[in-house]
Amino acid sequence: MDLGLKGKVAVVTASSKGIGKAAAFSLAQEGANVVLCARGKKTLEAAAEEIREKTGVKVLAVQADVSKPMDIKNLVNQAIKEFETIDILVSNAGGPPPGEFMDFTDEDWNYALNLNFLSVIRLIREVIPYMKEKRWGRIINILSVAAKQPFDNLVLSNAARAGVIGLTKTLSKEFAKFNILINNVCPGLTATDRLKEVIKAKADKDGVSYEEEEKKFVADVPLKRLAKPEEIANLIVFLASEKASFITGATIQVDGGFIKGNY
Ligand SMILES: NC(=O)c1ccc[n+]([C@@H]2O[C@H](COP(=O)([O-])OP(=O)(O)OC[C@H]3O[C@@H](n4cnc5c(N)ncnc54)[C@H](OP(=O)(O)O)[C@@H]3O)[C@@H](O)[C@H]2O)c1
Repeated sequence: MDLGLKGKVAVVTASSKGIGKAAAFSLAQEGANVVLCARGKKTLEAAAEEIREKTGVKVLAVQADVSKPMDIKNLVNQAIKEFETIDILVSNAGGPPPGEFMDFTDEDWNYALNLNFLSVIRLIREVIPYMKEKRWGRIINILSVAAKQPFDNLVLSNAARAGVIGLTKTLSKEFAKFNILINNVCPGLTATDRLKEVIKAKADKDGVSYEEEEKKFVADVPLKRLAKPEEIANLIVFLASEKASFITGATIQVDGGFIKGNY
């Protein structure tokens, strides 16, 4: 299937590791030029070099913290300077710290909302003008199954992710007339460093070993395993492609059957 991604320009945030990197890599394999970002320079540059070498596309790496408004502006400016346009945005970020409601102050909430809610708003605001001009755009926000089925001990993530669903639905209607399609992808339990941190925090809280806690996590997945990051990337790439031309405002999980409800 030709996905029509050759020569497109994709900005994928939080992409030096894990799901973001897998998304950038898969888009690059389809011939899209990619813009990566992360806070840590060394891992970011290594990821950019790896993608460049393995796919032959143009890769721009910009050090940026998506929880900071000026970093987002700078990221998009650099992308435009290099490629003159942006066709695809994959908005991704790190996850906020685990914990229960009474563990957190306003400062913690501000941090989580900047990281996982306002970053999405700011990124979309920056890229929309370029997509409007071309009457073509794809925006895919990486959320979590927590947006549909909240996790215990992850209140910051549960709340921030659910907010993005309302935002996406609203924007998908507002920008449909410009052929800008906006969707959310909700990863389930995926084998990355972030998941290791979440499992460790839960194990410490429950007073059990890491291995024991990991077994409990996997037991909740009908497919009885964790996802590989590239399995999440497969849906991201499809939604970014020409082939997803009638899909907008959707929130789709890739979770091995984890979510128990109908939607
Ligand atoms: N893994 C799972 O099971 C799972 C499930 C559901 C949802 N998610 C969500 O999916 C997202 C990606 O998770 P992952 O598992 O791929 O994590 P990961 O493997 O830890 O990778 C996170 C990536 O994001 C970058 N990053 C983190 N904070 C950033 C920031 N403020 N600004 C820019 N870049 C930042 C990291 O680089 P630097 O640290 O150098 O910035 C790294 O490249 C997270 O929001 C996570 O909560 C993950």
